[in-house]
Amino acid sequence: MPCTVVVGMQFGDEGKGKIIDFLAKNVDIVARYQGGSNAGHTVVTGDKTFKLHQIPSGIISGKEVMLGNGMVIDPVELIQEIEQLRSAGIKTDKIAISESAHVVTEKHKEFDAKDTKIGTTRRGIGPAYTDKVARQGIRIKDIADNYPEIKKYIGNVSFKINKALDEGKNVILEGAQGTLLDVDHGTYPFVTSSNTIAGGACVGVGIGPKRIDKVIGVVKAYTTRVGGGPFPTELNDEMGEKIRQNGNEFGTTTGRPRRCGWLDLVMLKYAVMVNGVDEIMITKLDVLNGFNEIKVCVSYEVDGEEITEFPSDIKELEVVKLVYQSFKGWKNIENKNLPQEAKDYIDFISKELKTPIALVSVGPDREHTILL
Ligand code: IMP
Ligand code: MG
Repeated sequence: MPCTVVVGMQFGDEGKGKIIDFLAKNVDIVARYQGGSNAGHTVVTGDKTFKLHQIPSGIISGKEVMLGNGMVIDPVELIQEIEQLRSAGIKTDKIAISESAHVVTEKHKEFDAKDTKIGTTRRGIGPAYTDKVARQGIRIKDIADNYPEIKKYIGNVSFKINKALDEGKNVILEGAQGTLLDVDHGTYPFVTSSNTIAGGACVGVGIGPKRIDKVIGVVKAYTTRVGGGPFPTELNDEMGEKIRQNGNEFGTTTGRPRRCGWLDLVMLKYAVMVNGVDEIMITKLDVLNGFNEIKVCVSYEVDGEEITEFPSDIKELEVVKLVYQSFKGWKNIENKNLPQEAKDYIDFISKELKTPIALVSVGPDREHTILL
């Protein structure tokens, strides 16, 4: 598909980095459309692990990468990230940075560090977007001369992507964070300050909505959240701890332990809807290896009544009663063969979400990927 959006369907950290690295072999350009160095996208290739914050994951496989106008860019960290990639032998000549992307300054970071409520990544994201919307921000083109290391990359990403699409090139638009962290459609105010959903991709790189051919939603086989905010299926017990240890659920950007819980289909149905998801890719299924029982939240109840629409009011979300369905676990996933119990689990998810599951990831490496 020429133009595909890859979006996280939960609270971020779904494993988009790995999925995009895997898909990148068939594309020409990978472009990010929002967020900044709050993101942490991990890509593992053989013995090397890359942790990307601002540069799209396609860079690892040598693709052209673009940082869209919807991003807020920390130039100092960006230069460091480019240097690190270069010293690891990754080619960094095919980077384009939108001249209209806004700049994250030291002041923004200082201000963000004062946050005690949201549990931000302290990367200055909220304050930088605040200045942008208040029409007092600084754009990359304004400071280009002060950062000659990145000056050569700065250009008009919108024209570049539209031209590439006209030429029939394949483009991935890489989302950062996840659907429930979207500033409009997430668990406000416990959200990030950008539009993470697929619709944000058009705004964040400058293409028309009809340009998008496909939306891929990435779902982790369970749920995690880092920072504050409602999380209905959170497990504050040994099971949550087991998931955290098995899945190494500690933040890529901040190192914070991630809150862990079961999969939530009410939330995921909503994510399918607001993103227009065509196809789902499930990650970290192997983390559930060896569990006797795996639970999935299938509906919410308030005062004995079923709630089918994911509440936009977080107060309501905090009081919903959860209805779970139990699944029998499996021992192991060997040689890319999914055990019947694992198949039952993903078939159920696919049926409930009325969306095909195209790929299952069962480990961090590119090899640990099963196409369905
Ligand atoms: P901010 O994006 O740093 O302003 O943080 C706002 C909220 O989004 C906090 O709860 C963060 O933990 C969360 N967040 C931001 N970026 C990511 C990410 O890449 N993965 C997961 N959570 C994130
Ligand atoms: Mg992450």
